[in-house]
Amino acid sequence: MKKKPAIDWAALAAAARAAAARAYAPYSKYRVGAALLADDGTVFAGCNVENASYGLTNCAERTALFKAVSEGRRSFRAIAIAGGTAKAPALPCGACRQVLAEFCPPDLPVAVLPLRGGAPVVRALRDYLPHSFSL
Ligand code: THU
Repeated sequence: MKKKPAIDWAALAAAARAAAARAYAPYSKYRVGAALLADDGTVFAGCNVENASYGLTNCAERTALFKAVSEGRRSFRAIAIAGGTAKAPALPCGACRQVLAEFCPPDLPVAVLPLRGGAPVVRALRDYLPHSFSL
């Protein structure tokens, strides 16, 4: 079996930040971007897409994941999430944690980083969502 190349966190972080710049967030003004690395090396980026009916908002992480799954990928290696400030970077919401757990292994590395400056902090998906629900 061919060994997978090391995860390029700088590239994933840059892709997450670039996606945040495309956020549609006229209501909250809170921009989030995500970059999800599929097993085959493809990076799927996503941003939050809000709606006048607030509850219909789609988070950046789910946008990235749904793009990937709808393009035929179901195995993932890492995700980077860009949002918030150095003091308070955006952490994935509960819904996104559960949706990630549907497709990603518990040891998936999840990097969070602020929109500007700061360094990514990497934790495993299981640290964000222990005891996730499954059928
Ligand atoms: N948001 C995300 O995109 N990802 C998260 O994990 C947390 C929240 C978005 C949703 C909404 O557009 C804005 O941040 C404020 O809640």
